[in-house]
Amino acid sequence: MSRIYLDHAATTPPDARVLEAMWPAYTRYWGNPSSIYLEGQEARRVVDDARKTCANLLGVTPKEIVFTSGGTESANAAIRGAAFAQRDRGHGDHIVTTQVEHHAVLHTVEQLEREGFRATYLPVDADGVVSLAALEAAVGPGTSVVSIMAANNEVGTIQPIAEAVRVAKARNPRVVVHSDAVQGAGAIDITPSKLGVDLLGIAAHKLYGPKGAGLLYVRNRTPWSPMILGGSQEKERRAGTENVAGIAGLAAAMRLGWEERDDRVRHASQLRDRLLHGLPERIPDTVITGPADPAGRLPNSFSCCFRNVEGESVLLALDLADIAASSGSACTTGALEPSHVLTAMGIDRDLAHASLRLTVGKDNTDAEIDRVLDVLPGIVARLRALAG
Ligand SMILES: Cc1ncc(COP(=O)(O)O)c(C=O)c1O
Repeated sequence: MSRIYLDHAATTPPDARVLEAMWPAYTRYWGNPSSIYLEGQEARRVVDDARKTCANLLGVTPKEIVFTSGGTESANAAIRGAAFAQRDRGHGDHIVTTQVEHHAVLHTVEQLEREGFRATYLPVDADGVVSLAALEAAVGPGTSVVSIMAANNEVGTIQPIAEAVRVAKARNPRVVVHSDAVQGAGAIDITPSKLGVDLLGIAAHKLYGPKGAGLLYVRNRTPWSPMILGGSQEKERRAGTENVAGIAGLAAAMRLGWEERDDRVRHASQLRDRLLHGLPERIPDTVITGPADPAGRLPNSFSCCFRNVEGESVLLALDLADIAASSGSACTTGALEPSHVLTAMGIDRDLAHASLRLTVGKDNTDAEIDRVLDVLPGIVARLRALAG
């Protein structure tokens, strides 16, 4: 059997249909969309068509879409753009986010603190769900931005965004709400009008699309100012010659992701549930992290910690067995800090060091899951024996 890829939360293999949609942008429509002659007009049409596709899928208007270089840029642009625009309007300087956000959000908010903004990092419960009571207590007249992810990248927890928006806006109607929907896109309903959010980010490479392409939804009339300055691309909201092929790829990836969502979700949750039930059965002292109830987590997400094992060693052994997995945290180099997500969920540091994340995708098979269920118990037992 060839390699088994179980790290779809990190990135996904590009879909051949997405690559096909990108190819004309490299071979025929390679003009600069800002140029007025035919080559430019053709490239412009590719970008405009993609914008319409993305807007339709999200149920928003094309002018509310700003194309970016992916999830990190969308989060930076969303939070910084809203924080400064709100402060300029006298709408406060207090940012509320959660302790379990991706570093794209956390490091952005931390940097804003160094630049004079105030911040509150909301706690989560043992499943990783944000405390709405803490949100209600945190949002006040000086709160300008609230940023809560749609779903967590490490443990798959789905956040109650619509409820959070209601709570935050009831406390302060002027607050701008952002959701990092990089992991949620294609897996759960992230329609901005249903969530009630003002800003929402997506990355193509988590959806079988290209790396370096994404979008930020900016609701009409949201106080928000651009971060990347230069030319007048994206209606002066994101300067720089457009990544035409990447944008075409993002639109194709989103279209397929939305069209095939039900099938993908059914397939992923069936495989994931086998891990969720099968691994704790076969491996003693397996602690599932994130919601044990499958409905509370992303359909493709399995995560756990094994007592008395170094997570890093499990990953290396799995790699040797031709299985690509992740510890779930960005730090996969041994001695580093345990995951901020797991510690925020109250998991002790030792246990947090032994974390494993398996995220399945549309092309994984039952036979591949059989192989993991077969191989992993032996790996953990061997490492435990070595650790004495
Ligand atoms: C929840 C979340 N936000 C943001 C990002 C960053 O996205 P990108 O890699 O496109 O910059 C990731 C990527 O892992 C993510 O999982």
